[in-house]
Amino acid sequence: MLNEKEIIEVLKPIQDPDLNKSILETGGIREVKIKGENVSLKIALAQTGTGGQMKVQQDIVAIVKKLGADSVGLRFEQLTDEEIEQHRDPEQEAKSAGLLDPDNKVKFIAVASGKGGVGKSTVSVNLAVSLAREGKKVGIVDADIYGFSVPDMMGIEHRPTVEGDKIHPVERYGVKVISMGFFVEDNAPVIWRGPMLGKMLTNFFKEVTWGDLDYLILDLPPGTGDVALDVHTMLPESDEIIVTTPHATAAFVAARAGAMAIKSNHRILGVVENMAYFQSQATGEKEYVFGQGGGERLAEELKTNVIGQVPLGQPDIDENDFAPSVYAADHPIGEIYGEIARRVIDKKESQ
Ligand SMILES: Nc1ncnc2c1ncn2[C@@H]1O[C@H](COP(=O)(O)OP(=O)(O)O)[C@@H](O)[C@H]1O
Ligand SMILES: [Mg+2]
Repeated sequence: MLNEKEIIEVLKPIQDPDLNKSILETGGIREVKIKGENVSLKIALAQTGTGGQMKVQQDIVAIVKKLGADSVGLRFEQLTDEEIEQHRDPEQEAKSAGLLDPDNKVKFIAVASGKGGVGKSTVSVNLAVSLAREGKKVGIVDADIYGFSVPDMMGIEHRPTVEGDKIHPVERYGVKVISMGFFVEDNAPVIWRGPMLGKMLTNFFKEVTWGDLDYLILDLPPGTGDVALDVHTMLPESDEIIVTTPHATAAFVAARAGAMAIKSNHRILGVVENMAYFQSQATGEKEYVFGQGGGERLAEELKTNVIGQVPLGQPDIDENDFAPSVYAADHPIGEIYGEIARRVIDKKESQ
């Protein structure tokens, strides 16, 4: 015959995954009911609906069955805020806050634009790779949750490895990469509701083992939507680079993204004018196919400066090391990205 005391005794080693304390200690064993050989339990955890809860669930069922129960019914609820506060493990807290820890010295740089198709992802990827070429430890978060493109652009064929509730980013050209694209099957379209979006981003910061980083580049979705707003509130210390094309109206649209950055107290590091001109290889002559002056105007409006003008041009394709959007260090455009990276380092590290 099973009794309550015995059951509580065997549950002692079960830990609350978020508090790193026994559920006995946290008061998480809310209810034990025994009917013959059938046991039903109500357990409270700091967080429910997580991978950690599933593990606790499996462990409890195994342990209680080992004690002789035929069936184990489990219900979960959340500990109260006061209980969580009381049992919070400061060390664990610091570890899991990771990148968002105020003591973390990582420099966040969000890359934003007024609209899609101006080369925001191309700039994000090449800035990240160029910073790594300068010897910096760099990560990139593809926060364009609907329009993720970073893995394809960098020619990434692997997915991150997952260990427990930790995700190890994929490394490519010395850059640690995390993207929504890694968590979607067969390019299926993703529809995220507001709260899931925020959670996804938080997970990218908290559950990814970034290690020591000097820079984290965020490829934001175009415009001024929810995700852009989330990033703004989540990363109060972030800097921003605004990407625009040289056309006057493009700069006008980009100004809205810039205005949002300023409103949330993000510092604007500068403007990158992409597709700024076409340079003839034969004559060296520059043609301003998409107009001229947009970057300069935008920079003026945002009280910053143009930190790079990137001409039209494709990377050389290396069949053995395929990355369709990464310019080699000695490609004329790769050299321009090198200069942009050094300007960013100057701005960030000389202050
Ligand atoms: N300087 C450039 N020269 C030629 N093509 C470019 C350049 N910059 C970006 N592109 C191309 O333009 C398209 C849009 O760029 P992308 O970086 O995906 O823009 P966004 O992230 O702003 O939507 C891509 O096909 C990209 O390869
Ligand atoms: Mg993009």
